[in-house]
Amino acid sequence: MSKTLVAFFSATGNTKKLAEAIFEEVQGPKVLLPIEDVEEVDGYGLIFVGFPVHAHSVPYKAEVFLKRIPAGMKIAIFSTHGSLHGHRLSREAVEYAVVLASRAKVLGTYSCRGKLSLKALDFLKQSPEHAEWADMAPSAGTHPDRHDLEEARNFARLIQTKARQQV
Ligand SMILES: Cc1cc2nc3c(=O)[nH]c(=O)nc-3n(C[C@H](O)[C@H](O)[C@H](O)COP(=O)(O)O)c2cc1C
Repeated sequence: MSKTLVAFFSATGNTKKLAEAIFEEVQGPKVLLPIEDVEEVDGYGLIFVGFPVHAHSVPYKAEVFLKRIPAGMKIAIFSTHGSLHGHRLSREAVEYAVVLASRAKVLGTYSCRGKLSLKALDFLKQSPEHAEWADMAPSAGTHPDRHDLEEARNFARLIQTKARQQV
C-alpha cells in the first residue's frame, strides 16, 4: 500500500490540529510532518497539504511546497482562516493554492476558521490591508472546534476513497 503524507505549516497551532485529525483518519503507511521538515515529495500515493491564510493568500513556505509537488501526484488541500467561513477572502487563498499545485491532481479542499491571539489581532488591525478580515476575526475565537475537526476527519475519509478510485 502506498504511503500518505500529511504536511502542514502552522504558525500558531490551529492548522496543526486539523493536520493531526486528518492524520488519525489515514489508513495504511503514513507520515505527519511540518512542511519545513519534508525532504522528499516523490514516492507518496497521496499528500494532504495544510496552511493558514496569511495576508489573503498562501504563506510563502506553503507556496514553495505546493510548487514542488510532482506532476500527477494526488493531493488534497486544507486551511484555516480568521475570516468568516465561505468568505471571498479565504476562498481566494485556497483557489490560489489549487493553482499553485495545478500540475498535481487536486482531489479536494477543506477549510475552517482558526482563532487569532488578541495580540496578533491588535497588531493586524493597525494595518489597512488587514482591516477587511480583521473585523471578522474575533468571532473565530473558539475555532477550530470539535465540529471543525470532525469535518476534517470526514474530509480525510472522502479524499482517501477518491484516491483509491482514481488509479
Ligand atoms: C500574520 C497573519 C496574517 C493573517 N492573515 C489572514 C487573512 O488575510 N485572512 C484571514 O482570514 N485570516 C488571516 N489570519 C488568521 C489566520 O489565518 C488564522 O488565525 C489561522 O487559523 C492561523 O493558523 P495557524 O494557527 O495554523 O497558524 C492571519 C494571521 C496572521 C498571524
